[in-house]
Amino acid sequence: MNSRSSILQQLRSSEGWISSNILSQELNISRAAISKHVKILRELGYKIETAPNRGYLFQSAPDLLLPEEVQPLSQSKFIGKTQYKHHHSTGSTNADARILAEGGCPEGTLVVAEEQTAGKGRKGREWTSPNHTGIYTTLILRPTLPLENTPLLTLLTAVVTAEAIIATTDITPTIKWPNDILLNGKKVAGILTEVSSEIDSVEYALIGIGINVNTQVKQLPKRPIYPASSLAAETGRQQNRALLLSQWLEIFETEYEQLISGNRQELLDHWKYLANIIGKEVTISRINDSISGTIKNIDSDGALLLQTETGQSQRILSGDVSFR
Ligand code: BTN
Repeated sequence: MNSRSSILQQLRSSEGWISSNILSQELNISRAAISKHVKILRELGYKIETAPNRGYLFQSAPDLLLPEEVQPLSQSKFIGKTQYKHHHSTGSTNADARILAEGGCPEGTLVVAEEQTAGKGRKGREWTSPNHTGIYTTLILRPTLPLENTPLLTLLTAVVTAEAIIATTDITPTIKWPNDILLNGKKVAGILTEVSSEIDSVEYALIGIGINVNTQVKQLPKRPIYPASSLAAETGRQQNRALLLSQWLEIFETEYEQLISGNRQELLDHWKYLANIIGKEVTISRINDSISGTIKNIDSDGALLLQTETGQSQRILSGDVSFR
């Protein structure tokens, strides 16, 4: 833990005032350095009182996804722990993450933004990312997975996102293959997985996730089907973004370790339960055509197995699903 985080932790856990002498002795940090860190914390939005003979009094934390707010709530060992880059505003966390990944950053590095000005959605769409309302984050992975298994990363992320929402709101969302999270039939989160590959293996994967948490519906773009909404709008109460992100990191690590160790059945079963798509009649729109049929299963690499209306079996790796 760095000095700023340990000062904050100590201030938070003290009941009432704590003198700068005691703080300095307990943390082995000079009083001048403490004063400098407290100044930075206040600039970030922490309310910390100071008084000459009393020291410091912690009052409140800002509603920000700072590492100091998220990391202590997550038991993960490396996901969101190895490096954590927080931006008040950025173009796209996926674009930032790509630069870090190309620069050799460790697996588990997380880029988090309070606002994105050029948030990217799938198929070149924009992802509206208003300030301080959602979670816009990209996780960098270096998985030991064959290239053809990368759809499993999106599948895993969808399950993790649904589980983190269940853990913090008590409401169970639905997964719409491959990457949408719906509540009451409305889209509250999306996933953008980008992979850089070597010949037949993954060099790094960027797991971009956007969750509309406390966003007002009027801030979101109109969508013809599966209209955009947020967790707050669907549950009727404000949600704690830092808690949700910390749960997401923790659950991600558990599921990811399972996947990498070769155990994918549980993930696929959980996905089937949350997606509730097996046996359903669907139309899948692809870039150049659309195809209709019944979903028979999900393959062990994340492809949908569709039986077409003419009875043929097809593996579907991309497209937009609509129910008939
Ligand atoms: C979609 O449903 O179209 C995918 C949306 C993914 C949005 C997230 S927000 C964080 C990360 N950075 C981006 O620019 N996009 C992803």
